[in-house]
Amino acid sequence: MTTKRKFIATIVAAGLASAFATPAALAQSGKIKVGLMIPATGTFAALGTAIENGFKLHVAEQGGRLAGREIEYVKVDDESDPSKATDNVNKLIKRDNVDVIVGTVHSGVAMAMAKAAKDSGTLLIIPNAGADTITGPMCAPNIFRSSFSNWQSAYAMGEVVAKQGKKTAVTITWKYAAGDEMVAAFKEGFEKTGGKVVKTLSLPFPNVEFQALLTEIASTKPDAVFTFFAGAGAVKFVNDYAGAGLKKAIPLYGPGFLTDGTLEAQGENAQGLLTTLHYADGLNTPRDNAFRAAYNKAYKIQPDVYAVQGYDAAQLLGIGLKAVNGDMSKKDALYAAMKAARIDSPRGAFTLSRANNPVQDIYLRQVVGKENKVQNVAVKALADPARGCKM
Ligand code: BEZ
Repeated sequence: MTTKRKFIATIVAAGLASAFATPAALAQSGKIKVGLMIPATGTFAALGTAIENGFKLHVAEQGGRLAGREIEYVKVDDESDPSKATDNVNKLIKRDNVDVIVGTVHSGVAMAMAKAAKDSGTLLIIPNAGADTITGPMCAPNIFRSSFSNWQSAYAMGEVVAKQGKKTAVTITWKYAAGDEMVAAFKEGFEKTGGKVVKTLSLPFPNVEFQALLTEIASTKPDAVFTFFAGAGAVKFVNDYAGAGLKKAIPLYGPGFLTDGTLEAQGENAQGLLTTLHYADGLNTPRDNAFRAAYNKAYKIQPDVYAVQGYDAAQLLGIGLKAVNGDMSKKDALYAAMKAARIDSPRGAFTLSRANNPVQDIYLRQVVGKENKVQNVAVKALADPARGCKM
């Protein structure tokens, strides 16, 4: 064959090969569409921004690609509103045809997303919402979490408060899945270790009219108060608790959402508060220091737990994609690689449980100035019990 003929034959062969290539093979060269469903408005808006920042930071560190595939974002503001959640997630799945959904913050919204992900078989990575149900009865091979379960973050605090010699506690939270589950988990840890929850108080999400409930706490006079609030609600609660003169009278405890990303606005009112969480300031590991420097350089602020969870959601997706050379049609291999992943997180390395939820150290932290300073590891390698998960 002449050189010219050889050249033409090669072109024809290449053309035929691409004409008969499987969709999967073709897909590997296209962009991966990430549907980011997070709050951009409302009580949890700042949490959504930190998650997005963290996710995008990891992708940027990989040159804007995961496993060689460019990442494209489609965003939906879920407003932390469960009544709009099904419509919102279906926009991403059915209208935008995303390859993976990343979201969200609010447990009630996340439960609707998990149902849609299960029904459609779309990969879902949850970078915050702790709803126990999602990695319990609703668990599924295509649903992963890079954050925590509500049980994990509050159970540890129950043990800590009881070990501090507190005998009675009042709980106060928003009345929705996250609040209910965190209070139940705190009660489990506290009562197993010798304490007694004497009163449970709540108000609807996202209400912040705390005065009547604070008066009830003052008259009940427990040894301790356990609370779950986050974002703008946490700022208002910590400030109102101190304003009502309760801070000096009855120690306040909670999962670290109470003081993460909020210290600027809580100032003096938060000083000394003890919280438990899977991230802390002052870990001073090379991994965390590098992450914090990179985050600070990119966004000119210090990262919080939400930023870490977003960053790790991207790491988890990257590990899965790498195992299948970017071919998302190889679902079994993709999910198997994600399940077996060891995530080199700024919080400390973690693995996933059989329900695809992080198995991780829970730190005891104390507010000192603008930091949630690590005190010690309250519970080592804590795994959510994954009650009801049949996977
Ligand atoms: C939740 O709804 O699961 C949640 C929201 C904010 C912080 C932590 C948990």
